[in-house]
Amino acid sequence: MYLTPKEEKILAGEEGEVKQKALEILVAIGEIYNADRLIPISSVQIAGVSYKTIGDAGIEWIESLTSTKFSVPTTINPTGMDLELWESMGVTKEFAEKQMRIINAFLKLGAIITCSCTPYLIGNLPKFGEHIAWAESSAVCYANSVLGARTNREGGPSAIASAIIGLTGNFGYHLNEMRNPTLKVKVEVELNEESDFGALGYYIGKRVGNGVPYFVGIKSASNDELKSLSAALAASGGVALYHIKDITPESNLVKIDGLEEINFTKNELKNSYDELSTIKEGKVDLVCLGCPHTSIEEIKKIAEMIKGKKVANNTKLWIFTSLPMKILANRCGYSKIIEDAGGKIYSDCCMIITPLENLGFKVMAVNSAKAAVYAPTLAKMDVVFTNLRKCIEIATLGEVK
Ligand code: F3S
Repeated sequence: MYLTPKEEKILAGEEGEVKQKALEILVAIGEIYNADRLIPISSVQIAGVSYKTIGDAGIEWIESLTSTKFSVPTTINPTGMDLELWESMGVTKEFAEKQMRIINAFLKLGAIITCSCTPYLIGNLPKFGEHIAWAESSAVCYANSVLGARTNREGGPSAIASAIIGLTGNFGYHLNEMRNPTLKVKVEVELNEESDFGALGYYIGKRVGNGVPYFVGIKSASNDELKSLSAALAASGGVALYHIKDITPESNLVKIDGLEEINFTKNELKNSYDELSTIKEGKVDLVCLGCPHTSIEEIKKIAEMIKGKKVANNTKLWIFTSLPMKILANRCGYSKIIEDAGGKIYSDCCMIITPLENLGFKVMAVNSAKAAVYAPTLAKMDVVFTNLRKCIEIATLGEVK
């Protein structure tokens, strides 16, 4: 891989050990994937911010980097708790202290402490064709597909290395030829809301693996629906990029001749809902919305649905979002409606990387296919996957029938 004289100097340690190690990571990955050179990036999204997922070894590693600063705008993923309301979630003091050590280390590095998996909703919004190095799989899929930006699925260490150096390897989805589709999906059923798009993403992600699906037959899709599709494709498979004919920005620029085709009909839609639920009836002690983090439109919708109702005594309704959305929800009066009904809006964290399994919860209802994929393993909970209206109904009844 070609390195500029400046990069050679960094690699020789002339700008300190932290930068040297960061560049070593980027060069090693670049060489594995046959990158011809390193290219500049305009932003980074870091994953692996929750103490639950990175543990003590992760804290020590991030703290060991703080003699340097990130060189490009860098936002970070959710943590394991609401940074202000963690006590009301039942998070222990010991966990909170460890989590704050991670946050303080990222602050020293110069990260923007967004603690959200939807950086594109709160200011980290790359333009079409822009090279970035992002590490949250749902956000990677959204950035590549919906925004037309260019990123590989970075890991925690490689994203941090890119944030320090401001470069990434020129391979994978940074290259035109890697952005062509590998499978055509004919959608022959009407998709009406986020959970339908999640069910589609779950089904296709499993089949396409880390390929690039090209969807035809989808007539319209809101940003929230595309957010849901992106997350599901990246969770059940390793999808980093998809195209939807006449909807996503590269759909009319890529080569689609000779692709294998599969259909997605009302049968596959129904089967996906069925497969994603581990239980069909019984008590539900937690309804979680906001995977990926809710937009302000989604919070508005939830407020309209829950207005005048009450969350059941044995159940909690938790909504996860970013801090800016929460502030907007407060200002618009949506938070008050949700809290009057007994629900809570938490920022900075989510249902999967908060230690819910230690808080005594057993069954979770969600409208997110990604959350439904991860809840049984990462949160060790049974899960009911359904649409938003039904999630609100479950919250008020305390059970699914
Ligand atoms: Fe975001 Fe957590 Fe889901 S990080 S995409 S809300 S698993």
